[in-house]
Amino acid sequence: MTERTVTITDQATGKSMECPVWAGTYGPPVIDTTRLYSELGMFILDVGFVATASCRSAVTFLDGEKGVLMHRGYPIDQLAEQSTFTEVCYLLMNGDLPNRTQMDDFEANIRRHSSVHEHLERFYSGYLYNAHPMAILVGVTGALSSYYHEALDIWDPEDRILTALRVIAKMPVLAAHCYKHNVGQPFVYSDPNLGYVANFLNMLFSAPHLHYEPSPVAVRTLDKLLILHADHEQNASTSTVRLAGSAEANPFACISAGIVSLWGRSHGGANEAVIRMLNDIGTADNIPKFVARAKDKQDPFRLMGFGHRVYKNYDPRALIIRKACHELLVESGAVNQPILEIAMQLEEIALKDSYFIERRLYPNVDFYSGIILQALNIPTSMFTVLFALARSAGWISQWLELMNDPDYRIGRPRQLYVGAEQRDYISIEQRG
Ligand code: ACO
Repeated sequence: MTERTVTITDQATGKSMECPVWAGTYGPPVIDTTRLYSELGMFILDVGFVATASCRSAVTFLDGEKGVLMHRGYPIDQLAEQSTFTEVCYLLMNGDLPNRTQMDDFEANIRRHSSVHEHLERFYSGYLYNAHPMAILVGVTGALSSYYHEALDIWDPEDRILTALRVIAKMPVLAAHCYKHNVGQPFVYSDPNLGYVANFLNMLFSAPHLHYEPSPVAVRTLDKLLILHADHEQNASTSTVRLAGSAEANPFACISAGIVSLWGRSHGGANEAVIRMLNDIGTADNIPKFVARAKDKQDPFRLMGFGHRVYKNYDPRALIIRKACHELLVESGAVNQPILEIAMQLEEIALKDSYFIERRLYPNVDFYSGIILQALNIPTSMFTVLFALARSAGWISQWLELMNDPDYRIGRPRQLYVGAEQRDYISIEQRG
């Protein structure tokens, strides 16, 4: 039990209550207002969850003031430099880094589950050839819920782990098939001889008439990008997955709900929007015009890839990605890409501008990720699909945590009702 409390007093009635204050491992203390309604008959209004913790979680910690991000206690820069995406998946799901045997078993399990039912492939043909791949991914991921529905007891810990493995193993297959559908090429099966990222690239780019071998630098860079996007605390899409999960929904359908949320331009859709914006800017002399538009309150335009709800400092992922972007472009000989030049100059100009300084707007993870993906020949419309592929690891780990939580209950926010007062129904003939 916590020793610290906060007293909330309703000045109108004089009634008070003591709210416990919980301290986490890190982060600001949290006032527990669970009993506010039963004791004072009041709700809390926090539009956009600016100061509201929705759960207890041991998966990811981030400090937006200091620019810190850790998964299960491991700093993101160490994971990005020294780990692999599949190892990070294990870490997120299980809480600790695996030993060699655990890692081998985990990867073998992922390989075993990296196929989808042939019938599922037919879902793709219902989509137009030019459907946005995120629209396809939402549908086919949701469709997975019909394949394992009977065999999945969400209250059985073993079934839950199997589901998590299936999600991590099948997302690359579903994602690659979205691309193949768009370009009109046959689907490529998963190759058990390839690692997770090389296999994904192979499913994306090999074709019956094309021999494809991903370069080691492409595999390394994409692996790093997936690590950087794997989880990010209680963001919009993760909260969507948790909320759907709290209603005891099928976990594959919960992941589909997370994909929907991620698709938005304010969230995962930003990486696609960044590239479109950099292309619109076109040349460096247009940068001031776009910066002026971003500052103009009459203009809805915002600098895509800038700003973050939580980070009021450099997004630590953006620093790693910026470096990875340079390494990739140097190694692939594409260092003089005009788009990179524009991005770097835009960043420099914005970081010196008082508008961005005062509002503490820094580049976020998506500012450079699009440039990396473009250099890897991944089409712009697939950028958010790759984000979804990476974030599925976080979503399903957060879902596992939710389902294991002894305080588990359905998520049910309340509201401040500002609508009409009670009135009587009148028939249509009598209305003016
Ligand atoms: N360009 C210009 N101005 C901005 C930007 C931007 N990118 N971001 C925020 N601002 C301004 C707002 O206009 C506001 O100004 P004001 O105080 O004068 O009204 C102030 O900064 C605070 O902005 P909010 O919208 O209140 O910040 P919020 O935390 O709600 O939004 C968000 C965060 C959505 C990320 C926002 O910064 C944004 O739209 N950025 C561009 C989209 C983007 O890059 N999204 C990716 C986020 S990272 C991720 O999801 C992986």
